[in-house]
Amino acid sequence: MEKVNRILSDERYRFYLQKNKALEESRPFCHHNFDHLLAVARLTYLLLLEEGCRFIHKELAYGAGLLHDIGRWKEYQCGGDHAGHSAALAGPILKRAGFHPSEQAIIIKAILQHRHSAPAGHRSPLSEALHKADGMSRLCFFCSSRKDCHGLERRPQREKLLY
Ligand SMILES: [Fe+2]
Repeated sequence: MEKVNRILSDERYRFYLQKNKALEESRPFCHHNFDHLLAVARLTYLLLLEEGCRFIHKELAYGAGLLHDIGRWKEYQCGGDHAGHSAALAGPILKRAGFHPSEQAIIIKAILQHRHSAPAGHRSPLSEALHKADGMSRLCFFCSSRKDCHGLERRPQREKLLY
């Protein structure tokens, strides 16, 4: 997990997490903090293992999970889609962490495709697992804001825990 740990100590990575935190302080709905990113990273890896996918290794799953929402703050500040912002911000971090260009490409594609509204097209097993993990990471059945949540209908854990 050397490359993953380099992400965690990357100054820009930490800066983006601080920006997410500051801009979500009063948000009543899901936050896009480190707990969420780590939950998604672990679930992405778990789903890939369950599916028997052998060519996506652990560091790819964690790289995608830990970076997939790092541009959320930019959506709050400038509009646009946070999947695109996160993918753009992830590139230099992945490079500094030592991921091979082919690994960077597959992680960035998964980040771009992690939202339910992502355009159709070829999706890798990592893209599929990251998208599913993002939904499964939310504990909607415990959430006090669920009655006001527009996304509740498509949340897999709106009534009970699945993972
Ligand atoms: Fe997201």
